[in-house]
Amino acid sequence: MIIPKKENFTGTFDVPGDKSITHRAVMFNAAARGSAVIKNALLGDDCLSTIGCMRALGAQVSTDGNTVYVTGTPQFRDAECDCGNSGTTMRLLMGLVAGKGVNVKFTGDASLSKRPMERVAAPLRLLGASVETTGGTAPVYVRAARLRGCVADTKVASAQVKSALILAALGADGETQVREPLRSRDHTERMLAAMGADIRAEGNSVFVKKSELRCVDVDVPADISSAAYFMALGALLGETVCKNVGINPTRTGILRVFDRMGVRYALENERTVCGEPVADIRVRKSAMRGIRLTEEMMPSLIDEIPVIAVLCAFAEGESVISGAQELKVKESDRILTTSEMLNALGGDCTPTEDGLIVRGGKGLRGGKINSYGDHRIAMSGAVALSASGTGGEIVGAECVNISFPQFYAMLGI
Ligand code: S3P
Repeated sequence: MIIPKKENFTGTFDVPGDKSITHRAVMFNAAARGSAVIKNALLGDDCLSTIGCMRALGAQVSTDGNTVYVTGTPQFRDAECDCGNSGTTMRLLMGLVAGKGVNVKFTGDASLSKRPMERVAAPLRLLGASVETTGGTAPVYVRAARLRGCVADTKVASAQVKSALILAALGADGETQVREPLRSRDHTERMLAAMGADIRAEGNSVFVKKSELRCVDVDVPADISSAAYFMALGALLGETVCKNVGINPTRTGILRVFDRMGVRYALENERTVCGEPVADIRVRKSAMRGIRLTEEMMPSLIDEIPVIAVLCAFAEGESVISGAQELKVKESDRILTTSEMLNALGGDCTPTEDGLIVRGGKGLRGGKINSYGDHRIAMSGAVALSASGTGGEIVGAECVNISFPQFYAMLGI
């Protein structure tokens, strides 16, 4: 894909629905009593993997444009679930099926088959789940078992791990306390509460009791992780407005980064939709300064680090991102792929054990980059090339279909 340099980038954008919320709306309704309509769903490859898995488990799911219709089945059947590239699908479903009395095999593509699954399997076993990984990775086998509540500590602040435990706890006797080191995104807790689950959050813990779910309709807000590319283009090249973006405080670390970098932005039309806060986000071209990001901020902006690193290349001074070792186990090792991308374009980036050092101020020259099949590297690379001196080329550009199929069209390519 050739990405030309742009002198100016201005416009209003409807970026697609939130990936995390779409996965959850499909999965949880598929496991609930009744029927639901999910509007503005993201139907990228990852969420299509979730839909395929829920059908395999016995739910009825159909789509019409961006609308998904689900009829739930509180009792799943034995199945083989192909999760494609989607870590969220595999990890959340491991928990969801664990107490359902069924035997399920989970598989994934080459990238997903390298990602760690014991981080979910080990705490699920504390609840009595029968989970077998293949040397720590997929294929994963979850077998019928009786679950009992317990205190489960997650070693990483991961919404995927936390959500898997919460979902298993819905089928466990007694109460389960899920405790995480830092608070991760809480879409699971919000949606399950709306579906009638006995669930409450207190500090970094979530308390869950055995519950039956009833279907709820969901209107999915736009994904701030997808909006981030258009927000960055506004900050670099003009003025952008992203409409109806989810601004759940567990997801808005990028706005706190904007505050510290000096990016000019405004939240407009703030409101609440289906229990999630939403706003239009306007971003204006700004002179930016470098930043320091540490571990406690990571859960609220982990998926945005590659595009934040692009902004750092254009900011005055040095930026240091640390405490971000989770980047190593995303769809690619994003510490390496982000630094390789910036350096290939003439930037000055050093990968570290747990993050990146970006020496900014010079902007980016342009050139050729490789996405390594990682959607967020491809889209961050497209932002970098649009703002670069010459523009350039992305090898492996099609992986944006994972989370943002319309990305290049919205960029005007
Ligand atoms: C997600 C949680 C995050 C995030 C991923 C989606 C979710 O992963 O990176 O894109 O929907 O729960 P971790 O929970 O592993 O940090």
